[in-house]
Amino acid sequence: MKNDIKNKIEQLRDEIRRHDVLYYVQNAPEIMDQQYDALFSELKQLEAEHLELVTPDSPTQRVSERPVAGFETVAHAVPMLSIDNTYNEDELQKFDERVAKGLESVTYDYTVEPKIDGLAISLRYEKGLLVRAATRGDGNRGDVVTGNIRTIRAIPLTLEGDNIPEVLEVRGEVYMPKKAFAKLNALRVDAGEPEFANPRNAAAGSLKLLDARVTATRKLAFFAYSVGQASAPLAQTHDDALGKLRDFGLPVNQVEKAKTIDNIITICHSREKTKNSLDYQIDGLVIKVNQYDQHDILGTTGRAPKWCIAYKFAAEQAETILESITVQVGKNGTLTPVANLKPVQLAGTTVKRATLHNFDQLARLDVRCGDTVIIEKAGEIIPQVVEAIVKQRDLFESKPFEIPVQCPACGGQVQKDQDGVYLRCVNPNCAAQLKQQLEYFVGKGQMNIDKLGVSLIARLVDKELVKTFADIYTLRFDQLAQLERMADKSAANVMDSIAASKTQPLWRLIAALGIRNVGGQSAQILADEFGSLDALMDAFAEQLTSIDQIGPVMAESIYDYLHDADNIKVINDMLAAGVKPSAPKEKASNVLEGMTIVVTGTLKTLTRQQIKQMIKDHGGKTSSSVSKKTALLIAGENAGSKLEKAQKLNIEVINETKFIKRIK
Ligand code: IVH
Repeated sequence: MKNDIKNKIEQLRDEIRRHDVLYYVQNAPEIMDQQYDALFSELKQLEAEHLELVTPDSPTQRVSERPVAGFETVAHAVPMLSIDNTYNEDELQKFDERVAKGLESVTYDYTVEPKIDGLAISLRYEKGLLVRAATRGDGNRGDVVTGNIRTIRAIPLTLEGDNIPEVLEVRGEVYMPKKAFAKLNALRVDAGEPEFANPRNAAAGSLKLLDARVTATRKLAFFAYSVGQASAPLAQTHDDALGKLRDFGLPVNQVEKAKTIDNIITICHSREKTKNSLDYQIDGLVIKVNQYDQHDILGTTGRAPKWCIAYKFAAEQAETILESITVQVGKNGTLTPVANLKPVQLAGTTVKRATLHNFDQLARLDVRCGDTVIIEKAGEIIPQVVEAIVKQRDLFESKPFEIPVQCPACGGQVQKDQDGVYLRCVNPNCAAQLKQQLEYFVGKGQMNIDKLGVSLIARLVDKELVKTFADIYTLRFDQLAQLERMADKSAANVMDSIAASKTQPLWRLIAALGIRNVGGQSAQILADEFGSLDALMDAFAEQLTSIDQIGPVMAESIYDYLHDADNIKVINDMLAAGVKPSAPKEKASNVLEGMTIVVTGTLKTLTRQQIKQMIKDHGGKTSSSVSKKTALLIAGENAGSKLEKAQKLNIEVINETKFIKRIK
């Protein structure tokens, strides 16, 4: 029986890994996302029932359980060098002349591959297992970011295939695909956080997060492009080595071979034309001498190898007229200036609007209505205004854009954020904000009321039929059916869609409230921790800050939101109108009810995540610090200051085995 389960678990893991390779390496998925998710849930379920069978390389173990305090650093066995840049054909020819001279007229060939705009990572595999991942750092020492790297599904936790060297360092680029980048920035604007300027910064920022659970939401991806330390050489040429990496299950980008620099130049021109069709950003191409023994002959300049060069694409810019500036109001009241442009072609799309980010940026650029402006695609995704051509300005007519002193939508008061970047409308009854909040509330990732679309929301708000989230749940069929262009059938569909949302899981309701800084991931943590809206509303500030993944800023916004009389009323009205969020998983027992438990030291059989789940399943709460409120300390090996403190405070201390007995 036990063996059957073990086999089933192994089989599921293999199947999931196979689909990961098909999806990320071969770009040829065989199954739909839902089917993949089903396999994944089945594995998770089986592992939850058989904790002793969980192994660190299981696809379910990608996310580590707790934030790290900071990153350790590590020396790179083989330094991670940089690449010299070229910008035109002449410079490429000169590079080729240097190569020819260095190799003393022996024949050679080149490879050319995309230069991904992300950040360099070194992945260390020992006996085929991913044991460490480090950033480039200064080239000699980098930060250890293994926990975060493990969340990237494109990176295999175990290599597959034959003849894998005992030690193999794979180098490559972690990047954020364009779609994920656009989505992340939209969320950041909503939350009042500054946007990332380009996918590269977004990828770097995501890898440097101390909480791997947040990194996991960032949809990072990876391409391998070279080998660092290896206990046995993989191949004689770069091209073959990349082939091997691909066979091991690593994603490798398209590489072309070319005999001469003229061929390379032709390839560069043609790839420059098609670069916008890729779903990730590339900022050029990397040209490498193919044969490894020739790398040794050519050597390095210290900072960059002499066998490699980057051909950088010119930033794409266009000139157009800034016709007007409008100010948008976000769901938390953020005012964002947006440039309305005379339509212009740029990097494959027609651009009509460009973000001006915030009023500080607008003042710095001093762009004005009527100006001829230069726009550029930052990360070739979001068009930005980079400068105004001042000499073409009509000096008599032109005036700087006036920073709003009132909300352009409701006329309400405007305030600058504490950190000084954003202006915000602080009128709690601002209709523009309400529309945005409602759009977010009904959104796919929140209450998922798909029949309540943007234009219907606008009409309901304008007619004052909906003034709060709670009003959605008291809407009547006849009120909807009376609206213009609303057939009875559609009104009935809207009513059904609203009714269906009443029992959405608790975390979705928490997320839907749109509390500043609280996204879906944090909402899940809160739902798991508190189990009900009532318990969350009753939480003390210290209870919130003691949750591992909830930082002080987030805790403050949650506390403030849930202690605001208007918000409390809306939540109570929603509950009274029949909203009954489904609670997180049923508890296994109540033996730990009311107990706040701290876990410390190294555990023998359970991971931190597992023990925390078990505590929750039996009615207890976990906290990361020992205080008078702690009921129990579970101490593993090498327990330190927490154990001392618990002993001082006379708190009961038990080990893992005793804990398991207690809940059985
Ligand atoms: S090879 C010694 N190949 O570009 C050369 N680098 O500007 C090792 N990069 O630090 C790097 N795509 O992060 C190589 N196909 C590619 C690349 C690539 C992006 C990055 C890499 C490097 C930076 C230098």
